[in-house]
Amino acid sequence: MYDVSAIRKDFPILSREVNGKPLVYLDNGASAQKPQVVIDAISTAYSHEYANVHRGLHYLSNLATDKYEAVRGKIGRFVNSASEDEIIFNSGTTEAINMVAYAWAMPRMQAGDEIILSVMEHHANIVPWHFLRERMGVVIKWVDVDDKGALDPQAVIDAITPKTKLIAITHMSNVLGTVVDVKTITAAAHAKGVAVLVDGSQASVHMPVDVQDIGCDFYCLTGHKLYGPSGSGAIYVKASRMDEMQPFIGGGDMIREVTKDAVIYNDAPMKFEAGTPGIVQMIGLGVALDYMTSVGLDQIAAHEASLRDYAMTKLAGLNWIQVQGTTPDKGAIFSFTMEGAAHAHDISTILDKKGVAVRAGQHCCGPLMEHMNLNATCRASFGMYNTTDEVDTLIDALELAHDLFG
Ligand code: ALA
Repeated sequence: MYDVSAIRKDFPILSREVNGKPLVYLDNGASAQKPQVVIDAISTAYSHEYANVHRGLHYLSNLATDKYEAVRGKIGRFVNSASEDEIIFNSGTTEAINMVAYAWAMPRMQAGDEIILSVMEHHANIVPWHFLRERMGVVIKWVDVDDKGALDPQAVIDAITPKTKLIAITHMSNVLGTVVDVKTITAAAHAKGVAVLVDGSQASVHMPVDVQDIGCDFYCLTGHKLYGPSGSGAIYVKASRMDEMQPFIGGGDMIREVTKDAVIYNDAPMKFEAGTPGIVQMIGLGVALDYMTSVGLDQIAAHEASLRDYAMTKLAGLNWIQVQGTTPDKGAIFSFTMEGAAHAHDISTILDKKGVAVRAGQHCCGPLMEHMNLNATCRASFGMYNTTDEVDTLIDALELAHDLFG
């Protein structure tokens, strides 16, 4: 049985008040709160176990290296990679996608080559591809979502041409909650020799991920959304694609030998991890994944599915709220606008007065906002510790905002 009360006690911040009201934290899409075990792991690492990794022969360096490197296997198991050597550490999805753009796509693409994106991509999965468009003449092709926010995998497959080199697509929209059938897309793409990058920033938080089952070439994770520290993250890169990548950031640790005339690179994945990394951040992420796994990834997904259904029903009862993204299997992420044209920022300010934290704005999704013909939305995004009572508090706060603005 999923004991949400016990889980909430593991997250110290959830017991605080905001504006004199109990905190109702519904901004998990932006960043999730941290359980005490993660906070303790950070403190322990700095208090007792800290040194640089991979460099020293002394006790603390070896200890820190062991703790840090153990996270590679944890992430590998979390996404079911065939080998932990297919996991590259980084600071999160933004860095990951930029790395793929520079290290894999740039050397392999030329003017006129095509990259397919969905219209609901986050800027992190758009701007690096605009770099290639601006600098190399690569063509970005956009695939729309329908009125419910659903993405037809066949529409993505139909967009493939002999010029297509890459499909870069979200697994779960950070605005609509839409879950994309990345497995079907990947199978069709591979049949045509096209690589697939999946932005798993949101999906990996809300559903079990199996990169071997999906079959994708690249899968990105962001640690701070996975109840881990900010500045932690990783990308799964299929071994055959790893071999195709050029080193991206140069410096210490990614090399085996440097002379005045030459460089011999380290083996992958370290070849793609230059400089002193986020040592403690990654150790904290490992503990966060352990925590999620101990609760159960299927159990978390089931809890969030019930929250989604409850919130969907409650929001549908407010006929002055328009929810964007109404696919039934979506993640528990609700973007909405309020009739009467109250701006999303004004609504979120009223909600904040009631202790309810949501995000308002474009959510780093300019093309989707353009597609929906909206300037901004409010977004309530749920996590493993949220409750149906908190949905009720959200609804009460929205009714107050409607009374004020409606
Ligand atoms: N990508 C994060 C969000 O959706 C920041 O809010």
